[in-house]
Amino acid sequence: MKWFKALNKVQIPTVGDSKTIELGGKQLCIINNDDEIIATQSFCPHAGGHFSGGWCKNGHLICPIHRYAYDLKTGRGAEGQGDYINIYATELREDGLYIGFEESWWSKLWG
Ligand code: FES
Repeated sequence: MKWFKALNKVQIPTVGDSKTIELGGKQLCIINNDDEIIATQSFCPHAGGHFSGGWCKNGHLICPIHRYAYDLKTGRGAEGQGDYINIYATELREDGLYIGFEESWWSKLWG
């Protein structure tokens, strides 16, 4: 896994908030769910809706378009959806938030 700095500490969303960032030409959604920082893909696999404006409920990210739900730990869609989202590793360090990508993914961008 390779780690990339995504945000300075002051840029990290506050509890209950989210923001969209670009990292390596890819849009990511950064979510603060009860002080746990989660990074996901920014577009919903259902119909391509954007997760900005979505919210968290019972450990799931809810898409604001048709309210499909995705597990914030596994990315798996709720029962019956048959889909999933990418969840990326996050790490808070002294100088900010880092996101980790599997080598197969980042090497296509930066390799
Ligand atoms: S686009 Fe997200 S639930 Fe339909």
